[in-house]
Amino acid sequence: MAILGIIGGSGLTRLKALQIDRQEMVTTPYGEPSAPLTFGHFDGSPIVFLPRHGGAHTIPPHRVNYRANLWALREAGVERVIGMAAVGGITPAMQPGVLCVTDQVIDYTWGRDHTLFEADLDSVTHIDFTEPYCESLRQTLLDAARRAGVSVVDGGTYAATQGPRLESSAEIRRLERDGCDLVGMTGMPETALARELGLCYACLALSVNWAAGKSEGPITMAEIEHHLESGMAEARKVLAAVACG
Ligand code: HPA
Repeated sequence: MAILGIIGGSGLTRLKALQIDRQEMVTTPYGEPSAPLTFGHFDGSPIVFLPRHGGAHTIPPHRVNYRANLWALREAGVERVIGMAAVGGITPAMQPGVLCVTDQVIDYTWGRDHTLFEADLDSVTHIDFTEPYCESLRQTLLDAARRAGVSVVDGGTYAATQGPRLESSAEIRRLERDGCDLVGMTGMPETALARELGLCYACLALSVNWAAGKSEGPITMAEIEHHLESGMAEARKVLAAVACG
């Protein structure tokens, strides 16, 4: 069984049920990942965990070293990666509290180091990205959620925005016209870099607020934190079921 890597997002800087064997800071040709890699296991199944925003949640989305993170996981022997993501819900099915295994992504980010294929090339390389997520890992996540008794939405288009600010309501209306269901700040270039590295990558997204303009008034941190806490408890059950399945 391929080693499972988990990239934790906001609200998931640790996996409580993970039995930790060791932590290791690694360096990569692209610099250091967000934190030391945590090697551990769930019920005997090996896991490598990496908090995307650093152990103390101090690295904003546009400053995450996505290349180093994915490279470090692959060097650690990881073949399958689940990226956890806290997102805003745009379409009606994505109300706060909903978990979604996304199936498409649109990249609205800019100025990020978004590829490994830009220097020292033997030839120009273009990866196929028609289906940006690894279908077998998506199915594994859906299956694990069923076994864990956690309801998840199968499929949704993730809009990756630059951040760290939240969007204007007009921006959200545009994303909706583009066909996006969810909006977050870290899905790209993470998803594409995983593909460039040949990793099987899927995203488990947790809606923690209605996106801008989709509810009355401004988006509050209190709302986000409330949904993060309860939703991540459900997400942890899914992750444990993936690891143990
Ligand atoms: N927009 C972008 N990223 C997010 C949001 C949002 O509304 N909520 C959580 N991450």
